[in-house]
Amino acid sequence: MRIILLGSPGSGKGTQATRIEKKYDIPHISTGDIFRSNISKQTEIGIEAKKYIDQGLLVPDELTLKIVESRFLEDDCKGGFLLDGFPRTLVQAEALDKELEKIGKSLNAVINLTVKDDTIIKRMTGRRVCGSCGENFNLYFNKSRVESTCDKCGGTLYTRADDNVETVTNRLKVYKDQTFPLIDFYGKKGLLATINGEQAADDVFIAIIEALEKVK
Ligand code: AP5
Ligand code: MG
Repeated sequence: MRIILLGSPGSGKGTQATRIEKKYDIPHISTGDIFRSNISKQTEIGIEAKKYIDQGLLVPDELTLKIVESRFLEDDCKGGFLLDGFPRTLVQAEALDKELEKIGKSLNAVINLTVKDDTIIKRMTGRRVCGSCGENFNLYFNKSRVESTCDKCGGTLYTRADDNVETVTNRLKVYKDQTFPLIDFYGKKGLLATINGEQAADDVFIAIIEALEKVK
């Protein structure tokens, strides 16, 4: 299966990706996670990307394509992949089409998670992530049993640098300006499945699986 998870910041892409990758045994490729890992290792790419991410802006297409294009060629992507947060611009979507054409493959589905702006602000300002295992928690929707401590591994929880109200507001604006056109792009190709992301995470997952089983 070759799947894209589209949806505004905080719509639940990462939460659902963890479940989908287990169900279909395909690698979860999150450009946001790749950038954050580069930032923590202070690589050249990380230092450059941080300038944009901290402001809630998109990392330029050229740099983003550089980190993704090589990832598709890795062995674990032969049987498919799940893209989370990529593509985010028409330039990236067209580049992805070209890469897929080169390897003679095509997409099965583009899942579009829809969530209202006020829910998103609450979700993102409430998000807490484990610094050790990456597990996600939320002060409003999914609290850890012990404050600031991961239920799964005991690691310390942190708040993402781009999860403050000001940056989130900017990320939502950028999404509407630059990523929203992809809904039409994939809609015209007949690949789009729109799912109500406001539901409880388990129900969102059920709806996604229903959509994916039809295009498997
Ligand atoms: P990225 O890391 O991709 O962030 P994002 O798209 O803004 O989305 P998030 O990861 O914040 O949210 P999500 O949709 O994964 O939701 P989650 O499941 O965590 O990108 C970060 C930055 O990197 C970008 O701003 C950009 O600068 C750069 N970047 C990345 N890719 C790029 C690209 N292709 N091109 C250029 N730049 C790029 O859920 C959020 C919270 O809500 C969690 O706390 C979760 O527990 C909770 N939650 C989830 N689902 C539910 C539910 N159903 N009910 C209640 N709570 C829920
Ligand atoms: Mg995410």
